[in-house]
Amino acid sequence: MKRVAVLTSGGDAPGMNAAIRSVIRCGVAKGWGMFGVKQGYAGLISGNIVEMGTRDVGGILQKGGTILGSARCAEFKTEEGRLKGIRALRQLGIDALVVIGGNGSQTGSYHLHKLDYPIVGIASTIDNDLYGSEMTIGVDTALNIALEAIDRLKVTASSHQRAFLLEVMGRNCGYIALMAGIAGGAEYIVIPEVESDPEEVAETLHLAYEHGKEHAIIVVAEGAKYNANALIEFFEKHRDRLGFKIRATILGHVQRGGEPGAFDRILASRLGNGAIEAVDRGEFGVLVGLNKGKITTTPLEEVVANKKEISMEMVELARKLD
Ligand code: F6P
Repeated sequence: MKRVAVLTSGGDAPGMNAAIRSVIRCGVAKGWGMFGVKQGYAGLISGNIVEMGTRDVGGILQKGGTILGSARCAEFKTEEGRLKGIRALRQLGIDALVVIGGNGSQTGSYHLHKLDYPIVGIASTIDNDLYGSEMTIGVDTALNIALEAIDRLKVTASSHQRAFLLEVMGRNCGYIALMAGIAGGAEYIVIPEVESDPEEVAETLHLAYEHGKEHAIIVVAEGAKYNANALIEFFEKHRDRLGFKIRATILGHVQRGGEPGAFDRILASRLGNGAIEAVDRGEFGVLVGLNKGKITTTPLEEVVANKKEISMEMVELARKLD
């Protein structure tokens, strides 16, 4: 009988609970002893680990956030911190750890793997910027929240003939901005991966106004050089030629707090099962992800060494549609 623990780390993402539930229940189905680590790597270091059974993960499938709690932990970036974490797991006789999280969290997993601790990662971040999984847990729900914001902003924008800048999350990545912009019919999308000229954004607004549009929406990723604040500053200086009056909305953490939609619940359930199957096969040091519709594993070494690229096909499509 194996003993396996699971933790959630980094920014929470809608569907993390569904993944915890799946890991625990798929492990219990194999007759294993299952554990949850509280507060991510911080809880691992302090030994905040509890035994969990099927009933402990009842009623959480539809809930956003993570019942285990999450943290961004500076101590875990040191080898001393990581060794403390491994000691805590070994003291409880835990044979393997499943880490649900994004880039920072899977870098932590990779370091544990290098210290010879059996690790399996599950791809989860609303940014969808993790190499090794075409879709990560949480992004679909976060995207729908951003889309709802665009639809609502369009209503008030049309009533006042205004342009709105909507800043969405994405620390170094424009996935949510690009997809929400396409799905919401934005006039212009600003993402970190593609250089944007504020003059061009201003010209787009000006033309939209001249063509008699009732509103204009510019979606901006927070990680772009010209984020909402930078663009507002630029527009202040060119107010006369824009036509539209401009307002900015920064959506922020609202995007992370939603209840997971069907896609994220199903993805999380599949990835949780995939992680338990990887543990059963003895396949460690890998990230469980979704690629071409299938549950796959990618070595963590490859995951941390590579950057997931934005789809230029989607960037081109956005240009055609604006
Ligand atoms: O990584 C997910 C994310 O939501 C990013 O989009 C954002 O930049 C960051 O986390 C915010 O982090 P925190 O919750 O620590 O402020």
